[in-house]
Amino acid sequence: MSGIKKEKINVSILRQDPSSGSEPEFRDYTVEVNEGARALDVLMAIRDNIDPSLSFRHCCGAGQCGSCAIKINGEPKLACMTAAADKMILEPLDLPVLKDLSVDLVSELSKMPGLVPCECEELPEKDEIDKIKPIRDCIECLCCVSVCPAMKVVDFAGPTRMRQEMRLALDPRDSRNRVPLTVDEGLFTCTTCHACYLSCPKDIEIPGKAIEKLRELANRQGLTLDRHKEVAELVRTTGRSVERSGKTFLEKVPEVIEPYGEVRAEVGFYVGCMYNMRVVQTCLDTIEVLKRNGIRVIVPKEQVCCGSPLIRTGQTQILDHLKKTNIDCFVKRGIDTVLTMCAGCGATLKKDYETPFEVIDINQLLVKYGIEPPEILNVKVTYHDPCHLLRGQGISEEPRELIRMVAKEFVEMPSICCGAGGGVRSGLPDEAKALGKNRGIEIEKTGCDVVVTSCPFCEFHIQESTDRPVKNINSLILEGYRKKDGNC
Ligand code: SF4
Ligand code: SF4
Ligand code: FES
Repeated sequence: MSGIKKEKINVSILRQDPSSGSEPEFRDYTVEVNEGARALDVLMAIRDNIDPSLSFRHCCGAGQCGSCAIKINGEPKLACMTAAADKMILEPLDLPVLKDLSVDLVSELSKMPGLVPCECEELPEKDEIDKIKPIRDCIECLCCVSVCPAMKVVDFAGPTRMRQEMRLALDPRDSRNRVPLTVDEGLFTCTTCHACYLSCPKDIEIPGKAIEKLRELANRQGLTLDRHKEVAELVRTTGRSVERSGKTFLEKVPEVIEPYGEVRAEVGFYVGCMYNMRVVQTCLDTIEVLKRNGIRVIVPKEQVCCGSPLIRTGQTQILDHLKKTNIDCFVKRGIDTVLTMCAGCGATLKKDYETPFEVIDINQLLVKYGIEPPEILNVKVTYHDPCHLLRGQGISEEPRELIRMVAKEFVEMPSICCGAGGGVRSGLPDEAKALGKNRGIEIEKTGCDVVVTSCPFCEFHIQESTDRPVKNINSLILEGYRKKDGNC
């Protein structure tokens, strides 16, 4: 008798046959598979023992061919590499469906650019190969294409074709100037949301290693969007990426902000352009929350733009100067922890800088030290995950923990890009609006009273796509404190 243990798996599969004109419907199955089985084993067991008409693709069974990609519980995954779990929901990728879980890969893959050999017979040098390596291991599963928000609203070649264009741009054997091509194919429509990177089974960091690099090349060839050039000029002349519209946060607060009671921690505060100049009240609300919870905040006044709007749009000429100014202002005050509350600035300081200090997001900080419980507010709240917080910094649970402390009801919605990032709001406002509209539709479905987020760009942008108030988590917590104090 075999010693292999068996387990029963219940699974729900979206079945459809567009050629028959019938509506897609979920069907439930129960199968017995070996313990440790993968999702692909479950599909094969259903096809072999229950329903031979179930359509899905597979080939290598080892994560190498990319053909078995499907959505498992809403996330694109390779079925052959994903552990089978009871109550799994299996759906096709967000691509045109041929039948059940088989989608049309050919339409997309047939457009994948190929090498156009030059006359030279040179082979790439080692350092050239090293630059290509991080973006060459694509298995053409199209998980990234399935999740790309930009492709859903504008004409955009999409993440893996951009990856391939950059791979060819780096290859000395290729004869074409890839850059104007990619601009025509929608290079600037990418919001740098990182959804493609997170969905990629080969961990190919398309936004940072392909899109932003192609934008740098576009900049060198004079192809940067005019509006992005204006932002870069503003940073170059003022140190800030947005125009002032009144007294800034840095002008309103002292350099050292003492808490009301005992000092539990001390942090330097990197404010960011939007909070400093446009969303000032949210920043002041946050300071109140920090004061109430024993955090001493040091705010160097000479800090400047972190450079994120320049990195995302490929205009990196003055980046080193910005980085040095920002790092020096904290180092010279002996600060070892720097607080960020803008998702984009936080991701930039953590990933694009090499800082001699720890960078901590406000949600992480408040959860780490714990906060005085606010009074519960009688509101139904939903939360918008800022891309640069969720996917850029991997922060998901902390904001939810804080919201649950203050809101009577919390309802989730899908984590989709609102369209504010990657220079899209400034450079391609129609696209930003279309993505914002999709965000607004999901907000509406939740039936919430308040939308909460943790990024000034999202807060500003989403407000245009919903009639519900959009607030920062700290503004909500402060409301809870005011209610507790009888000041509301
Ligand atoms: S970062 Fe987002 S918008 Fe850009 S290519 Fe990837 S999925 Fe698409
Ligand atoms: S880049 Fe990654 S997710 Fe996209 S097709 Fe290639 S392997 Fe799949
Ligand atoms: S079957 Fe080849 S990657 Fe899954």
